[in-house]
Amino acid sequence: MASEPCVLFWILVLHVQIFVVIGNPRVPCLFVFGDSLVDNGNNNDLETQAKANYKPYGIDFPEGVSGRFTNGRTIADMIGHLLGFKNFVPPHATVKDEEISTGVNYGSGSAGIRDESGRHLGDRLSLATQIRNHKAIITRITNLQNNKTLTDGHLKSCIYLSNIGSNDYINNFLIPELYPECHKYSSDEYAAILVRQYSQHLTTLYNMGARKVAVFGLGQIGCALEVIARFGTPGSSSCVDLINDSVNIFNGRLKPAVDKLNNDFPDSRFTFINVTSILAPQGDVQFPNIPCCKVRSDGQCIPDTEPCPNRGLSVYYDGFHPTEIANTVLATRSYTAISALDASPYDIAHLSQVADD
Ligand SMILES: *[C@@H]1O[C@H](CO)[C@@H](O)[C@H](O)[C@H]1NC(C)=O
Ligand SMILES: *[C@@H]1O[C@H](CO)[C@@H](O)[C@H](O)[C@H]1NC(C)=O
Ligand SMILES: *[C@@H]1O[C@H](CO)[C@@H](O)[C@H](O)[C@H]1NC(C)=O
Repeated sequence: MASEPCVLFWILVLHVQIFVVIGNPRVPCLFVFGDSLVDNGNNNDLETQAKANYKPYGIDFPEGVSGRFTNGRTIADMIGHLLGFKNFVPPHATVKDEEISTGVNYGSGSAGIRDESGRHLGDRLSLATQIRNHKAIITRITNLQNNKTLTDGHLKSCIYLSNIGSNDYINNFLIPELYPECHKYSSDEYAAILVRQYSQHLTTLYNMGARKVAVFGLGQIGCALEVIARFGTPGSSSCVDLINDSVNIFNGRLKPAVDKLNNDFPDSRFTFINVTSILAPQGDVQFPNIPCCKVRSDGQCIPDTEPCPNRGLSVYYDGFHPTEIANTVLATRSYTAISALDASPYDIAHLSQVADD
């Protein structure tokens, strides 16, 4: 019995490895917004506890330690690869003028949709800040290209990924001692506020020229190992059901908000990626629910410790963050959906193919 999960996981791995990318990227550029699920070094020089620029993070990454909160590549790295980009999208913190036209990654660990989320961990680049940084990058691209028509067309054909919201729960709503939100709002009210703010940010992105935007829903945060350690699981449940419930309410509101953006802006293609559907256990198969690295009290890896040897068999690298193999599954199925629930109305492959209006 114990070998069952491994079998399934290896099938997924093999499936993924047959992707070979030849030729030019399918879109000219890829811009990434989000939190530690996509951060690739933007927090390295910030005053914060939420940084991952030390071993054993990056142990399987071609360039070693980079600030990525996983053993290898992030979901944004994998999607960039599937889109045919030869290089990783550079982090905003260190990006050079020569690199900005093909895309920038603004992601920041502990950041949220709300500005205050993650505050107790230190500095972070909230979604509003990331969008302000994008505005400055657009100005730089416009100056470099020196042809507004060209730049507008360029920005329209890029893919934009947005993967944020977990910290509005983990590092805000779920810490009533430090954040008042949970005393002020019910789960439903809070989800409504978050989704309204998120929609406003996505509208700003649209107004800045974005037309092909993949919006990732939240995973089952109530199943994250650090969250289970913090809250415990009552009865026979293997996850913190109340937290999953809150997340499901958020996701349930986010998807119609994405549909509404498509209605409001008929020349846009926003799409909702259902992380819960993609990571749903297949049949009776459960993956081993232990972190691969040794974790400190905040759920991150203890510096310079030895991680587990079989990283292809773990879902979690530390107390919160998926391993490269879990990121591979997420990226592959958001790129090519295998169920109608995975991505709607478009998977990222379709998003890259639709003609620009
Ligand atoms: C600006 O870019 C557009 C679109 O690529 C092109 O058709 C036009 O000729 C360019 N204008 C100049 C002055 O180069
Ligand atoms: C999370 O909690 C919800 C609501 O209690 C439950 O239906 C769901 O099965 C849980 N998710 C997982 C992956 O266990
Ligand atoms: C995501 O997929 C799950 C199936 O795994 C489904 O129950 C849920 O309703 C979907 N969420 C949304 C917002 O569509």
